[in-house]
Amino acid sequence: MGRSGAAARRRARGPGRRRRRGDGAWSATGALLPSADRSAREAPIVRLGHISDLHIADRARYPRNGFTARDCERHSPRIARKLLAALREEKVDHLLVTGDLTFSGEPSEFVRAAELLAPFAREGKLTVLPGNHDVWTHEAAGTFRFLRALGPDGKGMRKLHAVYPLRVELSPEVVLVALDSARYGEPPQESPGWVGSEQLAQARELAREANQAGQAVVLALHHHLVIPPERVPSDAKLARMPLYDADKVVRLCAEVPVAAVLHGHRHAAFRVEIPGPARPTPVICAGSGSRVHDEPARRPRALIHSLDKGGLRATDTLVAGSE
Ligand SMILES: [Fe+2]
Ligand SMILES: [Fe+2]
Repeated sequence: MGRSGAAARRRARGPGRRRRRGDGAWSATGALLPSADRSAREAPIVRLGHISDLHIADRARYPRNGFTARDCERHSPRIARKLLAALREEKVDHLLVTGDLTFSGEPSEFVRAAELLAPFAREGKLTVLPGNHDVWTHEAAGTFRFLRALGPDGKGMRKLHAVYPLRVELSPEVVLVALDSARYGEPPQESPGWVGSEQLAQARELAREANQAGQAVVLALHHHLVIPPERVPSDAKLARMPLYDADKVVRLCAEVPVAAVLHGHRHAAFRVEIPGPARPTPVICAGSGSRVHDEPARRPRALIHSLDKGGLRATDTLVAGSE
C-alpha cells in the first residue's frame, strides 16, 4: 500500500502522546499494543479503520420494538459522523464496521447508516457485517434488510446470495474474513449470536489458505468471544446475548494462525488474548462509535489497526471528546 512511511511517523510519536484534531474535540491516544519494532516499520503496512455499534436511530419511529424515543439518545449520530470524518482524515486504507449499525433494524435507520458510510463505500473501502440490532425484529431479519440496504460493502445487494464468511483482500499480505453472527430470536434482548458450523468450516478453510499463501488473517464478527474480568453495568444485558458457539471460534484461533479477532457488541473498548498455535491471538473490541458516555472505557471511539504479513503491529485509538 506504500504507506509505510506515514505509519512509521505515526508510531514514532509513541504511545500516550495527545494531539489536537480539527475543532479540538478529538485526541489520538496511545496504542493498545506496544509500538512496532524497526523491521515491522519497514514492511508494507495496511491501516484498517475499525468502528462498531453506531446504533443509528430514527427517533420519530419510537416507541417501537421494545425501545422508547429516549433510549435513542444513548447514541449520537453526530459523534459517529465526526469519528468517521476523523478516519477519513487519517486516510485509512479500509474501514471495517462490526455490526449494530442500526438501533432496531428499521428501514429508515439502514438508509441513514448507509448515507453515513457512503464516502467509504463509494471508494470500495468498506466492509460491514451485521449485529444483533440489525436483525432485531422478525421483519428486519426475514426481509434481509441489512443485506439489501448495506451489506456487505455499504452499497447493499440487489440480488441476494450467501455472503459470509466474506474474504476481503486488504493487501497482497493481509486478508480480512468477515463473519455473520447475528441471529433473530424471540425475545431479541435474550437471543445469543451464532456463527454456525458451516460458516466456521468455510472461515477455517479461508484462514488456512491465506496462511499457506503467507498472508496474515484478520477475523471479524459482531459478538464478543470473551468478556474480560472488569465489569460495566451493560455487561449484565450482554450476558444474555452471548455468542452461542464462541468456544468454536476460540478453537479455530488456537489451531490456525489468526492475526487478530475484531468485534463490537460490548459498548466498552478492551483487548484480551486467547491462545494461538504459535503466539497469543489478540481479540479487540472497538466499543461503540456513537455512545454518549464519559466513562473512559465507554467513550465513543474508532480504532486504526496497522497490519502486515507478520500480523497486528499496532492499534491506535481515536477517542471522541465530550459533545
Ligand atoms: Fe451494540
Ligand atoms: Fe450487539
